[in-house]
Amino acid sequence: METVVSGIRPTGNLHLGNYFGAVRNFVKMQEENNCYFFIADYHSLTTHPTPEDLHGNVKQVLAEYLACGLDPEKSTIYIQSDLPEVAELYLLLNMNAYVGELERCTSFKEKVRKQPDNVNAGLLTYPTLMAADVIIHKAAKVPVGKDQEQNLEMMRTFARRFNRMYKEGYFPIPSAYNFGHALVKIPGLDGSGKMGKSEGEGNAIFLFDEPKVIRKKVMRAVTDSGPTEMNQEKPEPIQNLFTLMKAISKTETVAFFDEQYNTCQIRYGDMKKQLAEDVVSFTEPIREKINELTANKNYLREVTKTGSEKARESAQKTIREVRDIIGMKPF
Ligand code: TRP
Repeated sequence: METVVSGIRPTGNLHLGNYFGAVRNFVKMQEENNCYFFIADYHSLTTHPTPEDLHGNVKQVLAEYLACGLDPEKSTIYIQSDLPEVAELYLLLNMNAYVGELERCTSFKEKVRKQPDNVNAGLLTYPTLMAADVIIHKAAKVPVGKDQEQNLEMMRTFARRFNRMYKEGYFPIPSAYNFGHALVKIPGLDGSGKMGKSEGEGNAIFLFDEPKVIRKKVMRAVTDSGPTEMNQEKPEPIQNLFTLMKAISKTETVAFFDEQYNTCQIRYGDMKKQLAEDVVSFTEPIREKINELTANKNYLREVTKTGSEKARESAQKTIREVRDIIGMKPF
């Protein structure tokens, strides 16, 4: 039983790539660990969302993760800004975070390139806030994707530095949570790369997409003119379609179309029709759950209230100790 912390950015909606790449693993992870999942709304302020967008996105993301199976009975689910202790630890960690090392982070440099008119201090200190998120619960593990590896390295640096400056062994040094298997990468429908919302209209299938939207997207997926030789290798767009089908459909279904491909009899229209129906049956219960949850404000309020109370217990303990260790003591 390890303590695991994971932050969720309140941006956009979950698509099948997110589901198979991360969310499904979170659902399993919570069975065997003491998990804290929070929605990183402080972090998202670095891009200046409108108040309506911020609130709406937090709600949508919360509903979507709950609909996928994050369980408030098993995990501690909360909103980052409901823990003022995180802001305090962030402030304290910033005193020992050097501008030079923060400026060298690739995600910072990328943001500078992407939003040159809004290079704010929050962007620079994004990794210190992440470190605060994790070590406030003295977590041992953080599930991170490729793009967050450097941020994890920074967390480790800040935790180690605190220990060295103030108290050896105080903060556990967090490491990457190992899912025990390679992460499934879901390709997009445009015939190349991965599924992502920034990759273009129709490339991603969202969990909350209506059946007719899903059918339209799948039927428009890029294919080719079909195989001409028996057992020929599948070109990328076709392989992608099979990869998606493998994640969603029954083994027999995949085997059937594989056979059809290998014997040059495949009709992509039929394959897509089948895939679309399988995606619809897969996402339908999740979509219904999402709608049910977004309509139930009382439930969402209850979940986040209970979650933040549990999270604050752990956070307050750490802050009390940290203040004392640093020398902020009552007379
Ligand atoms: N930066 C993460 C992301 O973009 C979200 C995040 C914030 C996070 N704080 C965290 C992830 C702490 C893990 C641990 O996805």
